[in-house]
Amino acid sequence: MFKIKKLWIASEWESTLRDAGLLDIESVSKREFDWFEAPNRRRGGWSGVTRIVLNPDAVPQDQKAVFLKIQQNHFYRAPSTFFLKRLSFAREFDALQALAPVVSCMPNLLQFAQWEQDGNQGSLIITEALEGLQPFDTWLKEQKDSADTNQSEPILKALQSVASAAREVHHAGWAHFGFYPKHAFIRQDENGDFSTCLIDLEKARQPLRSTQSTIEDVSRFLRHSTELNNEEKVAYLRAYFQTDTFSDAQKRMIRKMHGGPSV
Ligand SMILES: Nc1ncnc2c1ncn2[C@@H]1O[C@H](COP(=O)(O)OP(=O)(O)O)[C@@H](O)[C@H]1O
Ligand SMILES: [Mg+2]
Repeated sequence: MFKIKKLWIASEWESTLRDAGLLDIESVSKREFDWFEAPNRRRGGWSGVTRIVLNPDAVPQDQKAVFLKIQQNHFYRAPSTFFLKRLSFAREFDALQALAPVVSCMPNLLQFAQWEQDGNQGSLIITEALEGLQPFDTWLKEQKDSADTNQSEPILKALQSVASAAREVHHAGWAHFGFYPKHAFIRQDENGDFSTCLIDLEKARQPLRSTQSTIEDVSRFLRHSTELNNEEKVAYLRAYFQTDTFSDAQKRMIRKMHGGPSV
């Protein structure tokens, strides 16, 4: 038997989601999707992401796209919640709701649903597609590959924007715990300034110590931004710590970061 355990819908999106058939959770749970990325499989569970155009008959510039993430028996146990086994999208739903009011940019949450069927637990989460933004890693590669030698300024500005997004999350008492460059979506405005929107908050939580947030999120970002040179990594840390000269405590922290620069 199919049983809905939780359903949350952004009220202004309800009719659009209904028209697209996305409120019939049981039928969505049985749908075969074209995956945006190959689904993750772990210990008998799976989790996949698909991009859906809600109005495919509209002309391309009027089409509205969403990202639907759907999973079954895909759990994550976080130490901060006594290793309680929870669906990772239930965690992401909590994190998106807690952080949306306190950070400048988050994916717009449209729907969350959780269900149970024949002893299996499922959930889905729908966010509005981020239009005009690009994952930091893709953007950085384009910059580094471009023949233009005068690209250091945009890179430094983009790094400042990502660092400021990390600071906002940490100041709110949260850490992302999946702060890969592919999860930091950036956009450059007409003045050359950047904004950053963080996605994939399945592992986000409220660590007990703020240094843990810094070490986890800052070092993961630097470690996986393999195209950044030492100077750029230092610039990222200066922006994150809001300082020109690192204190001894900051230097100790930086030295603990795998993938961090030498300071
Ligand atoms: N709202 C969104 N806007 C744009 N791209 C998105 C959005 N949500 C997900 N994606 C894309 O789908 C990929 C997978 O989504 P993510 O939330 O990272 O799920 P997973 O848990 O499978 O890693 C992301 O790396 C990103 O490229
Ligand atoms: Mg991801």
